[in-house]
Amino acid sequence: MDWSKYFIPTLKETPVGTEAISHQLLLRGGLVHMLTSGVYSYLPLGLRVLKRIEAIIREEMNNAGALELFLPVLQPLDLWQKTGRDKTLAEVMIRFKDKRNRDMCLGPTHEEVITDLVKAFVKSYRQLPLNLYQIQTKFRDEIRPRFGVVRACEFIMKDAYSFDRAKEGLKRNYELMYEAYQKIFSRCGLKAVIIEADSGAMGGDISHEFLIPAPIGEDEILLCNQCGAGRSVEGDPASLACSVCQGGKMEKTIAIELGHIFQLGLKYSDALQATFLDEKGDQKPLVMGCYGIGVSRLIAAIVEVHHDAKGIIWPEPVAPFDVEILPLKTDDSSVINLARELENELEIKGWEVLMDDRAESAGVKFNDADLIGIPWRIVLGKKTVTDQTIEIKSRRSGETRVVPIREAISRLQELLTNA
Ligand SMILES: Nc1ncnc2c1ncn2[C@@H]1O[C@H](COP(=O)(O)OP(=O)(O)OP(=O)(O)O)[C@@H](O)[C@H]1O
Ligand SMILES: [Mg+2]
Ligand SMILES: [Zn+2]
Repeated sequence: MDWSKYFIPTLKETPVGTEAISHQLLLRGGLVHMLTSGVYSYLPLGLRVLKRIEAIIREEMNNAGALELFLPVLQPLDLWQKTGRDKTLAEVMIRFKDKRNRDMCLGPTHEEVITDLVKAFVKSYRQLPLNLYQIQTKFRDEIRPRFGVVRACEFIMKDAYSFDRAKEGLKRNYELMYEAYQKIFSRCGLKAVIIEADSGAMGGDISHEFLIPAPIGEDEILLCNQCGAGRSVEGDPASLACSVCQGGKMEKTIAIELGHIFQLGLKYSDALQATFLDEKGDQKPLVMGCYGIGVSRLIAAIVEVHHDAKGIIWPEPVAPFDVEILPLKTDDSSVINLARELENELEIKGWEVLMDDRAESAGVKFNDADLIGIPWRIVLGKKTVTDQTIEIKSRRSGETRVVPIREAISRLQELLTNA
């Protein structure tokens, strides 16, 4: 992809009224744009990151046996009245009347819709277990949208819902989701802290939150200063010794919630009378679990963790491009031809390449490259012509290798695959 034909509107200045470093860098790097408070557009570069994260999530969800579907955002309010959540979620729900004067809402979450759907098709224990998920836009009229895509009014969530005959099946599905979440966050370059969340008003049901320590977090957790194990701040305040390792101390830390998994039990199936017939022909309520990941919030969390003073440092698996080629003399056709050859070979090998073909100064190109944070950079400068060498630079370590042109592809291939 040529930068000159692409759309990466980078900004030199930090946009006013932005507190979070991730918010600033996502705006400055031309990845997202604010339409109005809490509502964001994803520009081509941001969309690439989003798609890569979604691909990782899909792969892990599918591996865990979950099936993807796509549920409507537009929902009749009477469905929500049946569970009483038209009231409990009234604060965040976006409601209106349609042209036929029906009360409607834009889905803030999808438990009601999925339970209604499964109820229509699942009649027998033979059709269970079932785990259905989607990657979908959610609408929540947050009182305080903050930190860009971290707390938005329109955002993307992966939400999965499992249906089982009994608690044992739910536990199995829950375990599968727990493991899938660990893989997803680690593939996105994040070390998620998992805490058993307060079951609170939900009664004895089990729930876990996946969080990332970051200064903009809105949750307070206890984190072991030695092994990184996490715990909820609720509970015994006297015991700050870590129960996982020897000698670690639990310290209060601010963290962002990225995922939440929940053993729901019968809450929605009872309210919506979603039942099945067991082996004996008895009618039983479906046993449910739900599993959410804030996909758009994840982008911000990755930037919170992976950046330096100059810009974003994308972890390889979620980077918008794998390699950026930076020919410094765009008016020298021998340099450009070499850059094009490298581009071609890399693309044939399946790597995504961004070519900064703009007739800008080296300074502008380097600054933009640091800002948008593509993991590997190939610079074709003066020495490319005189010494037949190129420079390969790692955005993360800053390490630069000077490599003969004919070895460029094999060296890069090595670096990219071992990353
Ligand atoms: N307003 C929002 N903007 C972006 N992502 C969100 C928002 N609200 C929730 N999420 C993401 O969706 C995931 C699942 O939604 P869930 O309903 O469990 O969140 P929540 O408990 O309301 O989160 P929070 O406490 O942050 O409001 C959350 O873990 C979070 O990553
Ligand atoms: Mg919320
Ligand atoms: Zn510990």
